[in-house]
Amino acid sequence: MSMTLLDSAGCASAEARADERAANAPHGARRGSGQEGRPSRAGASARARAAGGRGEGERARSSHTPVLARELLELLDPQPGQTAIDCTFGDGGHARLVAERIGAGGTLIAIDRDPLAERRFAALAAQSACAMRFIRSGYAEALAALAAQGERADMAYFDLGMSSMQVDTRERGFSYSYDAPLDMRMDPAQELTAREIVADWDERRIAQLLRDYGEERHAGAIAREIARRRAQAPIETTLELVETINRALPAPARFAGGHPAKRSFQALRIAVNDELDQLDRALPLAWGLLREGGVLAGISFHSLEDRRVKRFLAEQARGCVCPPELPVCVCGRVPAAELIARRSIVPSAEEIAANPRAGSARMRGARKLEEQGA
Ligand SMILES: C[S@@+](CC[C@H](N)C(=O)[O-])C[C@H]1O[C@@H](n2cnc3c(N)ncnc32)[C@H](O)[C@@H]1O
Repeated sequence: MSMTLLDSAGCASAEARADERAANAPHGARRGSGQEGRPSRAGASARARAAGGRGEGERARSSHTPVLARELLELLDPQPGQTAIDCTFGDGGHARLVAERIGAGGTLIAIDRDPLAERRFAALAAQSACAMRFIRSGYAEALAALAAQGERADMAYFDLGMSSMQVDTRERGFSYSYDAPLDMRMDPAQELTAREIVADWDERRIAQLLRDYGEERHAGAIAREIARRRAQAPIETTLELVETINRALPAPARFAGGHPAKRSFQALRIAVNDELDQLDRALPLAWGLLREGGVLAGISFHSLEDRRVKRFLAEQARGCVCPPELPVCVCGRVPAAELIARRSIVPSAEEIAANPRAGSARMRGARKLEEQGA
């Protein structure tokens, strides 16, 4: 499977971090998903207080600038009293805006697998009027649980990849700019880490991973160098991996096209967090939860994700599939969705200048038409 990185290159330190944020990633099996109680305004506030009453303090430490925020709001068009599912809560940037729109009569269901996001949720819940509920879990599992509970929503949205909080928490090992243990787990309770992949996967499998999820042209050489180096001593940290990658690359590749480790780090992150499988499972589940007229939106940061969102929505919007030579439709298929924009929605030049992470973002969305079989 081939993949195109949609983001533009940049490799100075600050740019590199923005770059890293833009370069999305994947998962692994997690233990102990979290709270799945019914929404409650009082409950959310109590949880926030129990979490340390972070309120303004937590807000002040927020580090993630929501991407395409105005455009997402336009697309979702949240109305007072509606129910929204934020599948990738992160720092709550988008969720805060949606919560303000749906107001006291609305319900916001937030999902994230990262405990740090859960803490941010507690702070937001303490400040918001709407009913709020957090599910700490992979979004595929969380959406399946919501479907099993018979939940319905007016909108569901994904802002894919990692948050600035994750990149900037050095010890989590997402960044090639800081030395840290090779980790990259969004859910720290999960077993699989980047270190394990680099230590245990055979050379061919690592090369395949770098090719498939990073579109790394030098995948074979990098995997060979990893195998050679780990035979002498384990590769334990991000900078040891960067050094190994640098050693494998020919000189021109080390100085062109962004940071030399960017593609490999993205590929590892995608594998560690099983991002693509999660997305493939989650899109139909999120769609199934929508009421008639409900909107599904996805913000992607690389083509592997964008292609999945695009294909899924196009499939929902597809009508008759009869061969063109048939004079009348016999399949009876009618579109289940209306695409909100034919092409992807991209950030303005101003947004990219203010937030380089937004550079590779693409948003797509569709509205659910009359429910099939309804
Ligand atoms: C780009 S951030 C979202 C930022 C958020 N929209 C905001 O405005 O603050 C993506 C978040 O999605 C979470 N995430 C990524 N994949 C996930 C998955 N499969 N299940 C649950 N959460 C996931 C990450 O932990 C991260 O916090």
